[in-house]
Amino acid sequence: MVNSTHLAERKKRRRTLDVQAGSGKQLLRLHVNGEIKEVATETSKTLLETLREDLGLTGTKHGCELGECGTCTVLIGGEPVLSCLVLSLESEGAEIVTVEGLMQEGRPHVLQRAFADMGATQCGYCIPGILLTAKALLDKNPHPSRSEIREALSGNLCRCTGYTKILEAVELATRREEAR
Ligand code: FES
Ligand code: FES
Repeated sequence: MVNSTHLAERKKRRRTLDVQAGSGKQLLRLHVNGEIKEVATETSKTLLETLREDLGLTGTKHGCELGECGTCTVLIGGEPVLSCLVLSLESEGAEIVTVEGLMQEGRPHVLQRAFADMGATQCGYCIPGILLTAKALLDKNPHPSRSEIREALSGNLCRCTGYTKILEAVELATRREEAR
């Protein structure tokens, strides 16, 4: 796991190199939600910053920027990753999925529908990260126990719901997938 101190050091070093090179921007090709996106962005930017500020993908939420809240979670190569702790430069060539890429066959993802039907969302700020973390879990383990769901979501903080509805929504999604 990348920690925030390391990231701050890497960002600082990138900025120094950018200043020495006379340019802070680089053209990146990012593979996001099944499309290649070309973006000229500062090499010191985190993936979170590039997604939100350069690509307009504001579904990925900006929280602590310290790797502690999970609200910035995206999938990289199918694994949940804290986008505030990764430089966008380091994400080139990897398959990135954000909450905007969760739709299934033109419909909201089974998890999104379950969260809506269970009333598992209050302010909603944590939900994109939780949906992506839950998706990564269900892709690997379609029948997780309550404790496995709790463990998988343990890095995603929610200040509103008390978590019970969130756990129930993930369970509802697994039952609906089973019944398909
Ligand atoms: S914003 Fe990334 S973990 Fe909090
Ligand atoms: S619904 Fe508000 S932080 Fe989770």
